[in-house]
Amino acid sequence: MATDVNRRYVLRKRPNGRIDDSTFELIEEPVPAPGSGQALVQNLYVSVDPTNRAWIGEEPTYLPPVGIGECMRSVGLGRVISSDDDRYPEGSLVTGLTGWQDYVVTGEGEIPLTPVPGDTGLPIESMLGALGLTGVTAYFGMLDIGKPQEGETVVVSAAAGAVGSVVGQIAKLKGARAVGIAGGAEKCAWLVDELGFDAAIDRHASDWKQQLRDACPNGVDVDFENVGGEIMREVFGLLNLNARVPLCGLISEYNDTDRQSGPSLQRVLVNRVTIKGFIILDYFGRFPEAIAQLGQWVAEGKVKDKHTMVEGLEKAPEAVNMLFDGDNIGKLIVKV
Ligand SMILES: NC(=O)c1ccc[n+]([C@@H]2O[C@H](COP(=O)([O-])OP(=O)(O)OC[C@H]3O[C@@H](n4cnc5c(N)ncnc54)[C@H](OP(=O)(O)O)[C@@H]3O)[C@@H](O)[C@H]2O)c1
Repeated sequence: MATDVNRRYVLRKRPNGRIDDSTFELIEEPVPAPGSGQALVQNLYVSVDPTNRAWIGEEPTYLPPVGIGECMRSVGLGRVISSDDDRYPEGSLVTGLTGWQDYVVTGEGEIPLTPVPGDTGLPIESMLGALGLTGVTAYFGMLDIGKPQEGETVVVSAAAGAVGSVVGQIAKLKGARAVGIAGGAEKCAWLVDELGFDAAIDRHASDWKQQLRDACPNGVDVDFENVGGEIMREVFGLLNLNARVPLCGLISEYNDTDRQSGPSLQRVLVNRVTIKGFIILDYFGRFPEAIAQLGQWVAEGKVKDKHTMVEGLEKAPEAVNMLFDGDNIGKLIVKV
């Protein structure tokens, strides 16, 4: 329901570690008035991503840090409620950097909002999940960099999350073995029983390193790296000749004030391993290709897309912390 107040979370203090009550302030402003050639968008869903935490640190990432006093940057999905721009018809859906706020005016963000096809037949939340940035990240990270081949072993960390769950399913579609690393028995059962992973390792189990070695008797050909730290160190010890490492994320470090030590590169050297960091925005021009293929796989039931939904914009800061506590299965979304 549209209101005349725009709630916005602004950044007050850069966190030293986890986000806490002093990090953001929820303020209320009048709903912005779109100018000539602009449209007004009501934010419906906010995507909760590990990168939210990286964006509020001191160090620039692939985008400048969110400034103190600025609205928190975030991907979201909204509906156009008034428009003077033919690209954004009234009633249509858009996605992009809508921020932690109720309303946004097109043309004022860092990246233009993208119209969302309204006729996919899939739940609209999927546009932030398997058909959103995280699904597209899994798609290009796997197919452009990981290049899994029939019979190869793919290991993916944060496997029950938004990116990881799609990574493993793509590995299976390409005929590879999928081994996931996730936190907890429930997630591991979901990966194997529902998504068809060949094995899932509970990273909280005391013998997880041995379980990982047992699950990869022929070594690892693709390490889709979402986590870094100790998990990356262990997987690196199993890398095969000509293995590929799509370096997608290092979530174990995002709340750290000190950087962790990296893995041994011994096997990278002797086994001629390729490690490639990537940022999904570099693939922006090819998003339609990925969304079309992922949409088909989801419609055919070949890729399952699960969401963990948190109700209310006011919960956005604590939702980011949920990612670091492993309290999500699949894509974490805030319903505004
Ligand atoms: N390169 C890019 O363009 C790009 C784009 C999107 C995302 N990413 C990266 O991809 C990774 C996954 O993102 P996502 O959005 O799909 O998040 P997600 O996997 O849905 O959620 C994060 C998961 O990380 C795991 N985790 C958190 N802290 C951890 C720790 N200290 N050690 C091990 N695991 C930990 C938790 O799962 P468990 O408890 O189940 O292990 C948590 O559920 C992140 O590193 C993110 O930065 C990169």
